[in-house]
Amino acid sequence: MSVQSFTHAAATLLNISNIQGDILVGLQKDAEKFLFFTITDVPAFKARLPMLAALVTSTKSVMDREQDIKAEKASGSGTRLDLRGLNLGFTAPGLDKLLGNNPVTTSAMIDSSFVAGAQARAAVLGDELDAWLPAFQGTKIDGVMLVTGPDETKVNSHATSIVQLLGSAIAVVHEELGQTRPHRGFEHFGFQDGISQPGIRGLTPPMNPTDPEQGLPGQDLIHPGEFVFGYPGQVDRFDPSFPDATKETTGPIVEPPFVWMNDGAYMVFRRLEQRVLAFQKFVKDESRVLGMDEGLLAARLVGRWPSGAPLVLAPLQDDAALGADATKNNHFEFQHEDASQRRCPYAAHIRKTYPRDDLNDAPGIPALAGEGGEASVQTRRLRRAGIPFGREVNDSEVIGSEASRGLMFVCYQTSIIDQFEFVQKDWANNDTFVFGKGRPNGSGQVTPGHDPLIGQVAGDLRVVDELVPNYPTGNTRSSINITQRFVQATGAGYFFMPSIAALLHGPLSQ
Ligand code: HEM
Repeated sequence: MSVQSFTHAAATLLNISNIQGDILVGLQKDAEKFLFFTITDVPAFKARLPMLAALVTSTKSVMDREQDIKAEKASGSGTRLDLRGLNLGFTAPGLDKLLGNNPVTTSAMIDSSFVAGAQARAAVLGDELDAWLPAFQGTKIDGVMLVTGPDETKVNSHATSIVQLLGSAIAVVHEELGQTRPHRGFEHFGFQDGISQPGIRGLTPPMNPTDPEQGLPGQDLIHPGEFVFGYPGQVDRFDPSFPDATKETTGPIVEPPFVWMNDGAYMVFRRLEQRVLAFQKFVKDESRVLGMDEGLLAARLVGRWPSGAPLVLAPLQDDAALGADATKNNHFEFQHEDASQRRCPYAAHIRKTYPRDDLNDAPGIPALAGEGGEASVQTRRLRRAGIPFGREVNDSEVIGSEASRGLMFVCYQTSIIDQFEFVQKDWANNDTFVFGKGRPNGSGQVTPGHDPLIGQVAGDLRVVDELVPNYPTGNTRSSINITQRFVQATGAGYFFMPSIAALLHGPLSQ
């Protein structure tokens, strides 16, 4: 996991005692249980909700715990703090059960994807519903509890006491367990994850001596309304009210559909299985065909080396010191430093999902020229808070019958449609994005291809451009076909994570 510190002093504008802890900072977790539940007795659930809310871990608690962890580490005691956490969210049907005569669907402002639910949106995103676990299909899930802790045993014990507290008010219909891998902070394909997160204005301290608009160097500060309701958001250059918007421009307050939704956020959950052996075989076979190093090919699919070192800064070989240095490993742009994908393919996972300044030269789209491109990109940011699941690859496993392992992907935003779904559908699944790009030496336009990790298309034929690097010079065309998914969605859910006050004495409990 990346080194990220947050400051209480700067957080006075944000109601950090009221915002659930996983949203802006992230619950401390080496194990996380996702308890999906149905509400079986509405009056009983409402009556017990304040007791449950009292156990919910706030952003402030998470920040205090960060200080405790630092102090413990500094003391050299080697003790692992037993930090248990709880966060809570509801699906649209779950909210409606609790709200009675005033359901969320009565507001025109409500995110239509949240109301439709993840299953109804699966086809739009390219998910194969056949691969979804039955538990995620249908309308059983009213809510989810995220129970976190330092290990599986402690998380299980915390989960048991929480479920006991709720008694017959709920039935747990499904549960999932996420756990950090023995190689902590690395996902199952072997790459460091959790490096690049949007900084939050008013919470993330500016730490770049040369740019006060950044947290850690390269980490642009984003207005909090992109992630939590009730605060100013970013403005898109396409918004006619802000024709000169830059990525720093303060936008209007992002108002929630209902007042009680202030200090809350939408959460997207996706159970993403990773076919590790198939991925490794593909990289091995294809690197032979392309006549290039296996490690370099894998890094060009991701945009970073396993250590986390970005290809823009380390185009030909891994640099472990760079990957481990949070003050350097995110300090780069794309268009500015790598205009014709010599260092990092346009289709690489991190370039697809956060193209930084790549749109600044979008020809033919005047609104996006200059800073405007990046201003638009910054309206698509996600706060990611996932955790791996499944055991390590075992020698007896073979392709086709790999154990179930992958990523419990979680992200937070104030618009599922404009943030998570847009990134998945309009960027990762769209082979023409990043649009308007040229080949090296200005020799013609290029179709970047699909995100090789998470891109999803019907028929499963994905194309990725320029995996053989033209770095530092050259103009050799390489375009490869990928005919399988290395990442398969096996379930998903859209939730709303209310503020702690809304849980304690809002309409959900009254
Ligand atoms: C099993 C599936 C996935 C794997 C293995 C994976 C892996 C990675 C890795 C290794 C990184 C680089 C480390 C970092 O910057 O934190 C990364 C970054 C990122 N991923 Fe994923 N990811 C997956 C799913 C997704 C999904 C579903 C989305 C959103 C639709 C997504 C969005 C992002 C974003 C926004 C970044 C940060 C890019 C940046 O800011 O530079 N990822 N991912």
